[in-house]
Amino acid sequence: MISLPKTVGTIGGGNMAEAILQGLLQAGYTADQLCASDPVAERREHLSRTLGVRTTDSNLEVVEGSEVVVLAVKPQHLEAAVDPLPKNGGPLYLSIAAGVTLATLRRWLGSGARVVRAMPNTPALIGAGITALADGTGASAEDLERAEVVLTSVGDVVRVPEHLLDAVTGLSGSGPAYVYLFIEALCEAGIREGLPTLVARDLAVKTVLGAAAMVRETGEHPALLRERVTSPGGTTAAGLAALEDRGLRAALLAAVEAATERSRELARDA
Ligand SMILES: NC(=O)c1ccc[n+]([C@@H]2O[C@H](COP(=O)([O-])OP(=O)(O)OC[C@H]3O[C@@H](n4cnc5c(N)ncnc54)[C@H](OP(=O)(O)O)[C@@H]3O)[C@@H](O)[C@H]2O)c1
Repeated sequence: MISLPKTVGTIGGGNMAEAILQGLLQAGYTADQLCASDPVAERREHLSRTLGVRTTDSNLEVVEGSEVVVLAVKPQHLEAAVDPLPKNGGPLYLSIAAGVTLATLRRWLGSGARVVRAMPNTPALIGAGITALADGTGASAEDLERAEVVLTSVGDVVRVPEHLLDAVTGLSGSGPAYVYLFIEALCEAGIREGLPTLVARDLAVKTVLGAAAMVRETGEHPALLRERVTSPGGTTAAGLAALEDRGLRAALLAAVEAATERSRELARDA
């Protein structure tokens, strides 16, 4: 039986930290179980005012008062953020910084530190994220469970080996932007066909939401759902043929490949 972390803190009090703290409050944590550090006074005031959590400008204070500490600063700030912390011990660290490997984190925090790594995405900000947690990384089953409890507060969690986190970044990390572009183009197309702007946006957004919900709730393969709504010689067949002719599928394969490669490059430079 895994014991839930009684206290959770974040180093960095930006967007992702706020989403996680808010998610934990909604999941039943009380404000006195949570804290956050940030160098910016306005961010600290914002978090204490809106969420009621304890805030500080001392990262050490967060580490001393928390069983799990989420590392939620930009990757380029992470080394400086953990520099003043004690090495080889302390809480369980959960890093969500893109591209900073566990090997690097252990170099900075000491080989004896308990560290896990995960890659969330921006819908976490409204509790609808999907996070990949790196599995099989030398962390204990209990620590992975504790990290998962924290991450579940902002959406669903899947586990993958650490080397696949670049692919996760290419798909679900960057993926919301691909979908925004898809929605944007769908709106524009509707407007060109004469629909009022707001109606076109509503139709596009709800079509994407509805189709995604169909895939999730039926559990069917998307290709099967697509075939089912495509009558021979019909309107959908004409639309799909135009998409295939212009290479939508190939474009998406190339997008995920390019983003995955870029994530690998950034990790190498980190
Ligand atoms: N946003 C996403 O969708 C997303 C998805 C996956 C992973 N991530 C990862 O999540 C992390 C946080 O992203 P975010 O969007 O929440 O960034 P953010 O809004 O910029 O938040 C980071 C906060 O940490 C503060 N900070 C900087 N240096 C610090 C230090 N030494 N000690 C304590 N706090 C410090 C920053 O202050 P300043 O403003 O003064 O720098 C800022 O308020 C990043 O590593 C990112 O790679 C984000």
